[in-house]
Amino acid sequence: MMNEESQNDFNITKIHNVEMVISAVKPEQYPEDGLPEFALAGRSNVGKSSFINRMINRKSMARTSSKPGKTQTLNFYKIEERLFFVDVPGYGYAKVSKSERAAWGKMIEQYITTREPLRAVVLIVDLRHNPTADDMMMYDFLKHYNIPCIVIATKADKIPKGKWDKHKSIIKKKLDMVKGDPIITFSSEKSLGIEEAWAEIKKRM
Ligand code: GTP
Ligand code: MG
Repeated sequence: MMNEESQNDFNITKIHNVEMVISAVKPEQYPEDGLPEFALAGRSNVGKSSFINRMINRKSMARTSSKPGKTQTLNFYKIEERLFFVDVPGYGYAKVSKSERAAWGKMIEQYITTREPLRAVVLIVDLRHNPTADDMMMYDFLKHYNIPCIVIATKADKIPKGKWDKHKSIIKKKLDMVKGDPIITFSSEKSLGIEEAWAEIKKRM
């Protein structure tokens, strides 16, 4: 038997086994392996799918787009038979109809509040900007249900390095982040923050 530490000691630079298991629209379709799950959350077009691709070193496993609203279902990516990344449709996309938005909200809410294998939500925000009202609502929602949250402040490549720390502390403050939830400066474009992000995920597996 492997101990816990060696089990979680897979090499991030050599991830080779990634499988998109299901694009789910209802709970009956969610995988039943019981592997730990890490769900992505964040506003539309913030870089959730790009985060997944960068973390697993794939160009386009998770579908990305210059057009927001690309991800419409819960997409389960199985990584090295160890964990799932669950790509989630982004919030705050204006061109989505009211009924679609309500259906989206219901699906996400149900998934987040009842999903047993869910270990943490990876909340993606834009390092350049103040968190949106939706970002704050999402974080509050997660804390209300005691769901651990790893905040990823992405698109760091778009602002000078000298501003990173300041922007990071503004985000931390605005979200009113609790002790124990980390915030990581990240860039999918420049491959930044990957090891820190993996370390936080592995801790929670
Ligand atoms: P939805 O699925 O619509 O919710 O979007 P998403 O959050 O999955 O965003 P996606 O990963 O598709 O990225 C949206 C756009 O932002 C794409 O044009 C990406 O190339 C770009 N992008 C994502 N991450 C970064 C980053 O770290 N730096 C830069 N410069 N661009 C990024
Ligand atoms: Mg996406």
